[in-house]
Amino acid sequence: MKVTNRKVVVIGTGFVGTSIAYSMINQGIVNDLVLIDVNQEKAEGEALDLLDGISWGQENINVKAGGYEECKDANVVVITAGINQQPGQTRLELVDTNAKIMESIVREVMNSGFDGVFVIASNPVDVLTYCAWKASGLPASRVVGTGTTLDTTRFRKELATKLEIDPRSIHGYIIGEHGDSEVAVWSHTTVGGKPILEFIVQNNRLEVADLQILSDKVKNAAYEIIDRKKATYYGIGMSAARIVKAILNNEQAVLPVSAYLEGQYGEEGLFTGVPSVVNQTGVREIIELNIDPQERQAFKKSVKQLRDVIESLEN
Ligand code: 2OP
Repeated sequence: MKVTNRKVVVIGTGFVGTSIAYSMINQGIVNDLVLIDVNQEKAEGEALDLLDGISWGQENINVKAGGYEECKDANVVVITAGINQQPGQTRLELVDTNAKIMESIVREVMNSGFDGVFVIASNPVDVLTYCAWKASGLPASRVVGTGTTLDTTRFRKELATKLEIDPRSIHGYIIGEHGDSEVAVWSHTTVGGKPILEFIVQNNRLEVADLQILSDKVKNAAYEIIDRKKATYYGIGMSAARIVKAILNNEQAVLPVSAYLEGQYGEEGLFTGVPSVVNQTGVREIIELNIDPQERQAFKKSVKQLRDVIESLEN
């Protein structure tokens, strides 16, 4: 499959869907962008508003509101629909409502004849990516959750600020649930190839004791934002756009998306955030890091929590 037209459909035109659309347009990632929402007028208004800026953009992009038939020849369908967290609410508490919404949307998309890659951004994203995969009947590799891409960019940004290093020169991942049980992989975090624990001794701007505080801050970032502005959307907008770009450009980029585990990290049968090679077929392969025993234990706990939620949905 060679991507020539770069058509993306975004389902759900709330803050998250429109932020993804806005990021993709500004970065010249798409040629053809279709917005779908249960509130058709809202989708139409958003499309008109986005189109207004096109002549200042990277290239000529076709943006419109449409129906599910538009998914037939789309390369990527991004799903952002669902309710979002209220202050103090966890992502997992959204699951009952959002699983139903997800399944009905995926069925509509598949009825169109869609044959591309799904990117799932609704929360709780790991569980909903599983629901989307089940409802789609597609190979698991073609259903990609935004996973811990957002947590990972938050992690790199926090470290970058403290260490006074460009975040793009910091390599490290948050893995597991995109949520309260996520795990910072300190054992494989490097700056210029140097392990973080060695680098902080040289750089002298962070103490070992600060690392836990920093990863807790990353974990709680969404709560901090939701307390202040009721929602988060720019960060996820740029994270999802990054994934779509990797798919459309067949990049083989390593991103911590929510991918289907088949024995990696000693787990199988569910989706969670792990560094994965992303290309035009979705997830080409998962990179299995040799994480330390403490991280492994935390990852297992995170996976168990997701598994329990999936089982409660299925029973
Ligand atoms: C975030 O982490 C709420 O999942 C959303 O910003």
